[in-house]
Amino acid sequence: MLEKWIAESRYTVVFTGAGMSTESGLPDFRSSNQGLWRKKDPAKIASTEALNNNVEEFIAFYRERVLGVKEYGPHKGHEVLANWEESGKIKSIITQNVDGFHQLAGSKRIAELHGTLQKLHCENCGREYDSSSYVKEAFYCECGGVLRPSIVLFGESLPQDAFTFALEETEKADLFIVLGSSLTVTPANQFPMLAKESGAKLVIVNQDDTPLDHYADLVIQDRKIGELLRDLDN
Ligand code: APR
Repeated sequence: MLEKWIAESRYTVVFTGAGMSTESGLPDFRSSNQGLWRKKDPAKIASTEALNNNVEEFIAFYRERVLGVKEYGPHKGHEVLANWEESGKIKSIITQNVDGFHQLAGSKRIAELHGTLQKLHCENCGREYDSSSYVKEAFYCECGGVLRPSIVLFGESLPQDAFTFALEETEKADLFIVLGSSLTVTPANQFPMLAKESGAKLVIVNQDDTPLDHYADLVIQDRKIGELLRDLDN
């Protein structure tokens, strides 16, 4: 059914979460067995509060995640999505992921709602650095300010350009496919709803239930995303 819908669709938009990158080797956040937030409280570690009052633990946590996105990379599923954009099968990707794997696989039209771990910037003067500074344990800017990943921390607003692009793409979609998200974080989880309200078919591919499953036209829980994308790409 999904293969038919993709073939018939005029404007397919894909929305990805951490479940898109678990088959690359990165942990997600809320899966019962491996999720990062099963071990750490995001409010205490992934927040501006942590950056300001708990900077050692903040840096240690994000250095681990930077090392992860440098050690692992896109899997076949990311490549399939990049090829589908090339051939016009999909028009864009809205991602909550900060691993940069969609870009590394060759996708071009991407809204990174939560920023990227591939870059850092100075909390004081805003100067940008490559995240390899964290690998080299260079945690401070020349101005003396602390370097932090260019991601959206809890308590911060989403980047305006990514949000606007995601809104435009969602409103144009006639097929909106969610890949690997628990759809529990706002405002990112508003996009599948908006797509549905704008008349798109909503498909959710996710191994656990999500709060939007009852809105979806199709829910696929028994497939791993990478395998499903490979099968659909035959
Ligand atoms: N195939 C299918 N589903 C998978 C796979 C897989 N290979 N691996 C994991 N999943 C599913 C899990 O069942 C889980 O419900 O992906 C979902 C990932 O959900 P979360 O871990 O909550 O990740 P995500 O929805 O992207 O989190 C949103 O929360 O912490 C913030 O900013 C962070 O962007 C993140 C946001």
